Amino acid sequence: MPHLATLLLAVITAYAMVSGQTPFLSSYAWTLQIDPVWDVLGPFPVHAREQHFISPSFPLNLSEPIDYQQIWPSSYADGGTVGWSKANIGVDGYLELSFPDIRWKSLRSYEGWAALQHHAVLRTTLTLHPPSDPIAGSPRLLFDLKQVSYFTIVPQHGSPASPEWHAGNIYDMERALPELVELPTDPSHLSPTKYDLFVSGDYEIRLFGDPLVRNSDVPVQRLGIRVEVLSSTSPVVHQKTQDVSCDFLDGYAFGDALGIGIQSAAGWWTVKGVSATSNQTGLDILLSDVSFTIAPSQTRILPLRIHQTTPFFGETIIFDLTLESGTDSQILSISMPVTQRRLREITGRQVLKGSFFFASSMPSSFLTMPPPMTNVSSAYPPMLALHGAGVDILGQPFWPEALPENKFSWTVIPTGRTSWGLDWHGPSARDAWASLDALSAMTHRRELSLPEGWVIPPDTKVIVIGHSNGGQGTWYFASRYPDKVIAAVPAAAFIKSQAYIPLSLARSGHFIDPSLRAILESSLTPDDNDLHLSNLVDTRVLAFHGGDDENVPVRHSRELSSALKAWYPSANISFQEDAGQGHWYSTVLDNPKTLAFLDAVLSNHDNEEPQSQSFTLTEGTLKSGIPKTF
Ligand SMILES: *[C@@H]1O[C@H](CO)[C@@H](O)[C@H](O)[C@H]1NC(C)=O
Ligand SMILES: *[C@@H]1O[C@H](CO)[C@@H](O)[C@H](O)[C@H]1NC(C)=O
Ligand SMILES: *[C@@H]1O[C@H](CO)[C@@H](O)[C@H](O)[C@H]1NC(C)=O
Ligand SMILES: *[C@@H]1O[C@H](CO)[C@@H](O)[C@H](O)[C@H]1NC(C)=O
Repeated sequence: MPHLATLLLAVITAYAMVSGQTPFLSSYAWTLQIDPVWDVLGPFPVHAREQHFISPSFPLNLSEPIDYQQIWPSSYADGGTVGWSKANIGVDGYLELSFPDIRWKSLRSYEGWAALQHHAVLRTTLTLHPPSDPIAGSPRLLFDLKQVSYFTIVPQHGSPASPEWHAGNIYDMERALPELVELPTDPSHLSPTKYDLFVSGDYEIRLFGDPLVRNSDVPVQRLGIRVEVLSSTSPVVHQKTQDVSCDFLDGYAFGDALGIGIQSAAGWWTVKGVSATSNQTGLDILLSDVSFTIAPSQTRILPLRIHQTTPFFGETIIFDLTLESGTDSQILSISMPVTQRRLREITGRQVLKGSFFFASSMPSSFLTMPPPMTNVSSAYPPMLALHGAGVDILGQPFWPEALPENKFSWTVIPTGRTSWGLDWHGPSARDAWASLDALSAMTHRRELSLPEGWVIPPDTKVIVIGHSNGGQGTWYFASRYPDKVIAAVPAAAFIKSQAYIPLSLARSGHFIDPSLRAILESSLTPDDNDLHLSNLVDTRVLAFHGGDDENVPVRHSRELSSALKAWYPSANISFQEDAGQGHWYSTVLDNPKTLAFLDAVLSNHDNEEPQSQSFTLTEGTLKSGIPKTF
């Protein structure tokens, strides 16, 4: 759900762009006009994520003139061909793209969701009007394109060059910055110049959902289109939405990392120094020894290390950054709000935000909930809670609030790098383990003087819990790190990406050499949770799934449970199918059964005995991103 304020802003800007055909001509700035009527060609079958393999302009070759009367083969359409049509941007700044003439219901009746995946190519005209002030330089454009996979801008007249494609915000990530794009050719400073904007529109059912949820058979793409001329005159900008911070607990930073989002509008900038205001004695903000440079149009997060000798109780950290580009120098004054917390006031489900350096240099945050009891004498294994796809733990309270109460131990809530992450594999898995390590290190810090039973040993084991993509991640963690995971609570999990949206309608499948196909298919082995289930014969598993899940079919959890029992009929897995429930319901994880399971596992965590006499260890797939052996 976008925040209301963001939505309003999008509406206002889009309205300004689309409403008047005559733009407001300013004497000092370039103005941009975007034609609200788009040419559309499609739909063409693709498999999930295949847009990353085929040309974004498929089936067009943008180096050749376009014939808008031409028809193209597409197996989705009646008669087997499609041609060009039109679509309009609405006043809300969104372009709703659909192909109602396609018999989607018939296609999905035998191909399932795979038949809803489709690709289209879209085109409209951007017109740039020069300012009357002749000394103004060339404009640069900011593209904020939501649910768009790729876009490019090419001169409308003149020799077509090979287009440069940019990634759109197909995941509709919160806090994504608009992309700063250089025009392929300078516009005229005397008269309006026209460019073609091409967009690749790819319906991804993983991202956009099943149209049946909206009582329709027709999949609809809602492409958010916002393009502006960069108005800032500052060559280097503090992008606050990209900042990374941590809470302070009893005056001490709950982490050692701060991050400052810096964007270069023009030029190569190197951070030269940081100077704090004098009233923050005892709190040092330090630059890394490694030189930090930002390329033109790039945004990076500057890593800063917090060093404290005495407690700090301010609500804002204030310092100046000095940046240099050649002989030019700039000062960015940073004022970063922080939340001050008192240990004795933390109760119930209150979350603390910690920070650490991911892969030694990237400032990252995580959330955590301390154990409710302060009188435990030794540490219980923490609960690692993996969120679902698109859940922004830093911006919304939803996920911590959805968790069952963990009476004994810390709950660690990692970001997995972003709200979508990488399905809790690779860098996302690494982020989760690194969040746990960071928390463990924090609990050892003397100045925090935490209760003895709150100190987490560095080699601790964990319970993993998660919903949806996080449920899938729970199976992944339990089966890939069986020595680290004592119990797992996966809810509404899918087995693996290839089983979620089948890749059966692949365009590439018609042409690929079988040996190349073997390599490509093997490279998906890390996703194969089912292949690694043999490792779970001695892990306690409590799985949940809504019987009418409209997002991840309940068959996935049934199949995982069945495959595990095929390895070991007495495996301690309990699968509960909640009849009539959908993908999300408030008791999916927070229910008496989970609470009893957590109590049973945690109160008995140090004398678990393997039940199986022998087992098969499945291992040896791609190991990229696995941080270390615990
Ligand atoms: C696209 O068209 C250009 C110009 O005709 C040609 O050189 C190029 O080979 C074509 N590309 C493909 C992939 O067909
Ligand atoms: C430090 O001084 C600045 C400027 O005088 C002030 O705004 C800020 O609140 C002070 N910070 C603390 C922690 O006292
Ligand atoms: C710890 O505190 C809780 C509630 O504050 C109490 O119910 C429990 O008995 C105490 N445990 C010990 C070992 O003292
Ligand atoms: C399965 O695990 C639960 C939770 O730890 C435990 O209470 C139960 O006794 C176990 N069942 C078997 C058959 O081992």
